[in-house]
Amino acid sequence: MGESVFLKACRGEEVEYTPVWLMRQAGRYMEEYRSIRRRYDFLTMCKSPEIAAEVTLQPVEKLGVDAAIIFADILLPLEGMGIDLEFAKNEGPVIHNPVRTRADVERLRVIDPEEEVPFVMEALRMVRKELEGRIPLIGFSGAPFTLASYMVEGGHSRNFVLTKSLMYNEPSTWHLLMEKISEVVVRYLNAQIDAGAEAVQLFDSWVGCLSPSDYREYVLPHVKGIMEGIGGKVPVIHFATNSSTLLELMAEAGGDVIGVDWRIDIGEAWKRIGYEKAIQGNLDPVVLFARQEVIERAVKAILDSVGNRPGHIFNLGHGILPKTPVENVVALVDMVHRLSRR
Ligand code: CP3
Repeated sequence: MGESVFLKACRGEEVEYTPVWLMRQAGRYMEEYRSIRRRYDFLTMCKSPEIAAEVTLQPVEKLGVDAAIIFADILLPLEGMGIDLEFAKNEGPVIHNPVRTRADVERLRVIDPEEEVPFVMEALRMVRKELEGRIPLIGFSGAPFTLASYMVEGGHSRNFVLTKSLMYNEPSTWHLLMEKISEVVVRYLNAQIDAGAEAVQLFDSWVGCLSPSDYREYVLPHVKGIMEGIGGKVPVIHFATNSSTLLELMAEAGGDVIGVDWRIDIGEAWKRIGYEKAIQGNLDPVVLFARQEVIERAVKAILDSVGNRPGHIFNLGHGILPKTPVENVVALVDMVHRLSRR
């Protein structure tokens, strides 16, 4: 298993072709997913290890990707902390009891993941068994800022006014919230590693809304603590969007691989991050709606910008979108393999 192209690339080692997997590679763009989704709601799917395992493997069979990512959601561990979570139709996640005050933060429970989200670990064990070492399995967690933003706003947000207000007006409450979430994230990722995750990705999807100095003050120490809590047991991918202004700080916070979105040229991003770290990215997910010759040009541009330097994992710059034509996704994986072969 140490021989997989994906894990080698995470460590910056030479590979015979560039490994590729796709964020949200399991999902609604696949008919195989939709046919299960018609029978179960999303949270039920996440909480049923057999279903989660099956859905995790769908893109592995269909696309020929170089890594599997466990089917779950970043918000799952919040329920045990005391958050009342719902995935409303066409609305995304809704939290009915948002965290707004010191007392709300103090009430949050620091969970034992084996007690509160055992289904994720069970699904990981099942997928590892089914994969039989063919490709590695990635576990994941939300990063503390992104999780805090859902908890405070009560759902997705455009300007993060409530989150930032708490941060600016009550920094000690903010740091307590970040500490509690970070402790849960460390326990959760370590439990996933114990259950068989061979790499983990930290999704800080919305942290790009912060200025560099706010990132340094309100986020960086907590992310650094999480990296220390994982302690190098497996490679960690540290991902954010809208993060072109934060790359150096994200690298300082830690991670073996930095995940970047399409708003920056990947070669330039890597230079700023430093070549001692690997890089993941960064095709615009909307390019997958274009004709295949356009997709191929975009793939070439990314590979050219990276220039065969070892330590690149090809991915999208954010999750695959629900209406993406599946044949283009199949073609993309093939293009990356073909065009990058050394
Ligand atoms: O990558 C994978 O294939 C693994 C599965 C995965 C899901 N969510 C499944 C999912 C992963 C890695 C996530 C992470 C996640 N969840 C993030 C971070 C990544 C990102 O996109 O920035 C965030 C912010 C969430 C929270 C979340 N979950 C939102 C905002 C939504 C609604 C938006 C949407 O796409 O519908 C979800 C729902 C969700 N998570 C779905 C899936 C497959 C769609 C549920 C459905 O079938 O209706």
